Amino acid sequence: MSITIKTGAEIDAMRKACRLASEVLDYLTPFIKPGITTNEIDKLSLDYMVNVQGTKSATIGYAPPGHIPYPASLCTSVNDVVCHGIPNDTPLKDGDIVNLDVTIITPEGWYGDNSRMFVIGEGKIAAKRLCSTTFEAMWKGIEKVKPGARLGDIGHAIQTFAENAGYSVVREYCGHGIGRKFHEDPQVLHYGRPNTGVELVPGMIFTIEPMINLGKREIKEGRKGKAPYDGWTIVTKDRSLSAQWEHTVLVTETGYEVLTLSAGSPPPPDFIPAEKGTAA
Ligand code: MF3
Ligand code: CO
Ligand code: CO
Repeated sequence: MSITIKTGAEIDAMRKACRLASEVLDYLTPFIKPGITTNEIDKLSLDYMVNVQGTKSATIGYAPPGHIPYPASLCTSVNDVVCHGIPNDTPLKDGDIVNLDVTIITPEGWYGDNSRMFVIGEGKIAAKRLCSTTFEAMWKGIEKVKPGARLGDIGHAIQTFAENAGYSVVREYCGHGIGRKFHEDPQVLHYGRPNTGVELVPGMIFTIEPMINLGKREIKEGRKGKAPYDGWTIVTKDRSLSAQWEHTVLVTETGYEVLTLSAGSPPPPDFIPAEKGTAA
């Protein structure tokens, strides 16, 4: 395992990449309403990255070992889709929940990665509670980040919070180091035991991105009816709803700095000092 420790200039480059990733979500937010299709969201996202920001999508053509190239500029995971949903032509409808996961690359070659949940239309109470609890679970993990803390402290905080709310934590996907590469060491599990795992050091940058299920934690490949597997979409095995939020976080000398913040970032939960969750 080799964890890169970012220098001052590299941290500045990551601040920019991550702010831009968050600004893509800000731009998309007013469009996320009943009737829009995830393919339309994909077009808006790509156009904003390329023609407004001058960034590139990190997901188009992304092909880790064992995968076909991912085809879209972002991931759109609706309802029982846990992650890596591929945009399609089905309109979003009242009561759906959708995760938009955006990763950009700056012209200088740095990656910023973040995702948010959106409730379409009015939304059902159970779905809204799952989304807000998952947001809080992410922040319970972020709150643990400081030099000397260990990765297990983050996972434990997220797992305890989510399970106490009656939900389950997906085990197969995790947060990750990020920088000049999309996925770097370390792996950041969203479950675990306190005081275990890698010790955090100033200059580390990684994502925290818990996937939380309303039902059981097991997952499977997603497909519609008898359709062949698309190679990416992951759904809950029991087809219960799943939610996810993601931030990219820097370990500072005294604690943490959330890098994926911008003017439209949702305010942090009450247990977080407001300035820690607000763009400078
Ligand atoms: N953005 C996702 C993450 O948080 C990865 C998506 S890979 C893709 O790590 F190929 F599915 F887009
Ligand atoms: Co992501
Ligand atoms: Co990520």
